[in-house]
Amino acid sequence: MFKSDSPVGIDDLSVYVPELFVSTTGEFAVKRGIEPAKLARGIGIERMAIPDAHEDAATMAAMSALELMRRSDLRPEQVGKIYVGTESAVDEAKAIGTYVIGMLEKVYGPGSFQECSTVEFKSACIGTTYALENMSYWLAQEEQDQVGLVVASDVARYDLCSSGEYTQGAGSVSLLVRHRPRLLAFEGIFGAFTRDENDFFRPIGERTAVVNGKHSNDCYLMAVDGAFASFERKARRGGLIDPGLGECPTDYVQHILFHLPYPRMAEYAAASLFRQEWRGLSRWRELEGEIGPEPRVEDYADGGDYARADFEFRKKFTRSELFMQAFRSKVEGSTSISRQVGNIYTGSIYLGLASLLESGKLSPGERACFGSYGSGCSALVFSALVQPGLGSVPSTGILERLAARREISLAEYEQLHEGRRKESIIPPREEFALLRVDEQGYRHYDFVR
Ligand code: CAA
Repeated sequence: MFKSDSPVGIDDLSVYVPELFVSTTGEFAVKRGIEPAKLARGIGIERMAIPDAHEDAATMAAMSALELMRRSDLRPEQVGKIYVGTESAVDEAKAIGTYVIGMLEKVYGPGSFQECSTVEFKSACIGTTYALENMSYWLAQEEQDQVGLVVASDVARYDLCSSGEYTQGAGSVSLLVRHRPRLLAFEGIFGAFTRDENDFFRPIGERTAVVNGKHSNDCYLMAVDGAFASFERKARRGGLIDPGLGECPTDYVQHILFHLPYPRMAEYAAASLFRQEWRGLSRWRELEGEIGPEPRVEDYADGGDYARADFEFRKKFTRSELFMQAFRSKVEGSTSISRQVGNIYTGSIYLGLASLLESGKLSPGERACFGSYGSGCSALVFSALVQPGLGSVPSTGILERLAARREISLAEYEQLHEGRRKESIIPPREEFALLRVDEQGYRHYDFVR
């Protein structure tokens, strides 16, 4: 655990989302033959952010990093490291952070970040959380005035007309990691779970992900539950959380943030976690009295029958008063921005943090637990305490920017999706832009005034 006299954590954050979006419930739903209610409620995504022709994971990363530099009044020489979590790499070898630094130097001057190191973290949607964990270890050894930026940036892209298509999105979140943070101080315990799985992957050279949808949901739940169990073992051993009789560790957590491939997934994840947590407690007996006993695998000769019974039990469980109350107070608040943006892969869980911040749902002294998931697959759970400095962190302004976006037609979206449109729909202004890719494959970016 980190020394309490100099805690390390998240001091500030910024969010960048492209200005273009597709509404899932309009033309998209009609042309794809899907009921709008399925997308708005069953999946939970109302709008998907779509990158314009001049945008990619590098420009979006540079946009959120620049905003963070400006809003926190940082000087380049204070920034010791920039770690970028992404699975939308723009190069097979060159770290995306070098392009980001190149772009930042267009604003701060040539060589201004030359003493800053940068690494790209790839581990599907969990890359940024591993970057954050490693940044916190580095910073704990460093001088008090050093800071690190952890940047998440991704374009979530699936094949047109596939069942993954309505869980796309794009955007970037930058996190400022420093000593004595204003927002969240890490408690230094990380619980992990990893297993080789084929739930979701993108072979070299492919533009869209291969996804085994239902299997990916199952892997997510298994891994996040596993990482929570690992976190709780360590938290009990370290004396961080010591539940009394009839209590469980999540009773000591006020906010649980999950990776958000789509907002509905948070409900599945919460149901799975609370079932794991509450089994054996007195509240579980009361709950079974209300909704009937939980099916036990050993009572079913046929695996399919067990799966169906378990599915029915989960439905009743998620409608129970006990679950709904816990879900509303600890989980739901983190899903609001994702409804308007879609999946941004590795940054999604930190969009959840922005949702809580913007809606004023955090209070000093509260504990937040992050349940991060990356396909392939791996999960990491860690906790952090909301700090007294919370009130001095200004609004990110993201809600206003989301409201001012432009909706595009299905035809425009499909052109951008397939890389067929070279002209920007909204020409870049006061932003980083990809100008061209030269004959060697090097990418030329600039800050367009
Ligand atoms: N009104 C309200 N709800 C409706 C409805 C309607 N008219 N019609 C259907 N629904 C509900 C369904 O009942 C279902 O809810 P329940 O689970 O409570 O029954 C919900 O909408 C989803 O519908 P389906 O079960 O039919 O799901 P789908 O076939 O559309 O697939 C998906 C959903 C698997 C997420 C698919 O979109 C997909 O493959 N997405 C990409 C992969 C993904 O996001 N996986 C998540 C885990 S992996 C991960 O997290 C990493 C990552 O970021 C990719």
